[in-house]
Amino acid sequence: PHNTPLTGKRVIVTAGGTRERIDPVRFITNDSSGKMGYAIAREMQSRGAVVTLISAPTKLTPPTGVKLVSVRSTEDLAKAVTTAFKTSDILVMAAAVADFKPVNSVDQKIKKSADNDHLTLELTKTPDILKDVAKLKRPGQMTIGFAAETQNLLDNANQKLTSKQLDLLVANDVSKPGVGFNGDTNQVTILQPDHAPIKTALADKQTIAQQVVDQISQRVQREG
Ligand code: PMT
Repeated sequence: PHNTPLTGKRVIVTAGGTRERIDPVRFITNDSSGKMGYAIAREMQSRGAVVTLISAPTKLTPPTGVKLVSVRSTEDLAKAVTTAFKTSDILVMAAAVADFKPVNSVDQKIKKSADNDHLTLELTKTPDILKDVAKLKRPGQMTIGFAAETQNLLDNANQKLTSKQLDLLVANDVSKPGVGFNGDTNQVTILQPDHAPIKTALADKQTIAQQVVDQISQRVQREG
């Protein structure tokens, strides 16, 4: 492909929903299909970026030419991202990361019996990968997040932009039909610390990926 500001940039994209084990046959996860992240990976690749796609389990086929790293839990994802980030220019976290995981993941299948009509699952917070990566950021490296919100979209998203020290954040109101998890379409607002918010129309996820990657590309050009 012809030269773009992203040509030769080393880009990590994460996708899918992480899985937190309860027992050998059960886990906690979320509705992420991986479609949004895979669309970003495809778009980055088409602009000449060298793409590593770190994916939680999905039903999707990775775009050709992209390096795939498969992970399951938030802990796996954290390790893979932290390692890859050392030699990367841009991180895009489209994955839906579990915020909590079971305190105890047991080796044997949990049984029901006459005396357990209720079962309490104790959960503990997972590490915030984007927050931890922000501490490793060198000049020139960019971190990009997504925010999945069901209320106060812009307030909550702006708070994530600041607290996670992001260069750009893609906010989706996942309470709206056709927006966010699982479907083939999305509608997002792109936030940047030094730029007015950009609201896209509802469109298929590849079109949304193009609009997001356009903004990342322009940012790279401005800062390069
Ligand atoms: O996969 P699809 O079905 O196509 O759906 C797309 C999507 C809705 C999953 C996607 O558009 C999206 O919004 N992804 C982010 C979902 C999410 O985890 O949002 P959050 O607001 O909980 O997290 C904010 C950001 O912090 C995200 O970039 C997330 O990857 C990151 N995070 C979250 C928790 C955590 N422990 N570590 C993190 O790094």
